[in-house]
Amino acid sequence: MTLKVENITYYYSNPEDYLFKDVNESFEKGKVYSILGQSGSGKTTFLSILAGLDKPKAGTLSFDGQAIKSSNLTSYRKKTVSTVFQAYNLLTYMSAYDNVKTAVKISAVKFDDEKATIVEALAKVGLSEDLIYKPVSKLSGGQQQRVAIARALVLNHDIIIADEPTGNLDEETTNQIVDLFKKIAHEDNKIVIIVTHESEVAAASDIVFTLKHRKFEREN
Ligand SMILES: Nc1ncnc2c1ncn2[C@@H]1O[C@H](COP(=O)(O)OP(=O)(O)OP(=O)(O)O)[C@@H](O)[C@H]1O
Ligand SMILES: [Mg+2]
Repeated sequence: MTLKVENITYYYSNPEDYLFKDVNESFEKGKVYSILGQSGSGKTTFLSILAGLDKPKAGTLSFDGQAIKSSNLTSYRKKTVSTVFQAYNLLTYMSAYDNVKTAVKISAVKFDDEKATIVEALAKVGLSEDLIYKPVSKLSGGQQQRVAIARALVLNHDIIIADEPTGNLDEETTNQIVDLFKKIAHEDNKIVIIVTHESEVAAASDIVFTLKHRKFEREN
């Protein structure tokens, strides 16, 4: 299964001030992709297109050979892709458990044992049961980032997209989060796409792109 962009072009208002134009790339299952690029180059914008949250001005996005159009966009967003946002977007007054549970409720997916599924997703990112019932506001930055990742993983979607998932974390926590993304891609056979400004994160990925001079350049 492949996520493909074909001839994708995006600009916010003036077509001549495009962020990128005629981009063609493929993202395969089982691999971690990193996207590097200067602040303001359009990385988050590109991720929003991949996540089906914004429409390209031209070109198509397709998954598993099927173009994502208005008719199947909702299904793509609900069943195929999960996003970890730049600012974690957690409900901070709620516990880690309830944040993940809310995502499950919104998705309307039914699990045989919902509680066990949620606890398992949180355990997978390294959050033990003594932490998951506290308000998220009482967790550290790295722990909050793990909650955001658990929330993206719980529905077991094929594509995980993360915007600066290690932005504010120390080196050790960053390495743990990167290892976790690698495990998700390599062991669970997902497509993982990470935007980062850290070359160490990029170096640990399978494939690295840089958005530079309004073009995606493959680094390896
Ligand atoms: N909603 C919007 N309307 C108009 N312009 C926008 C909008 N969102 C972003 N931009 C502009 O588009 C450009 C790309 O923004 P984007 O957020 O994609 O960059 P980025 O590469 O993710 O940057 P950073 O590394 O700082 O997060 C920037 O110049 C930004 O000011
Ligand atoms: Mg950004």
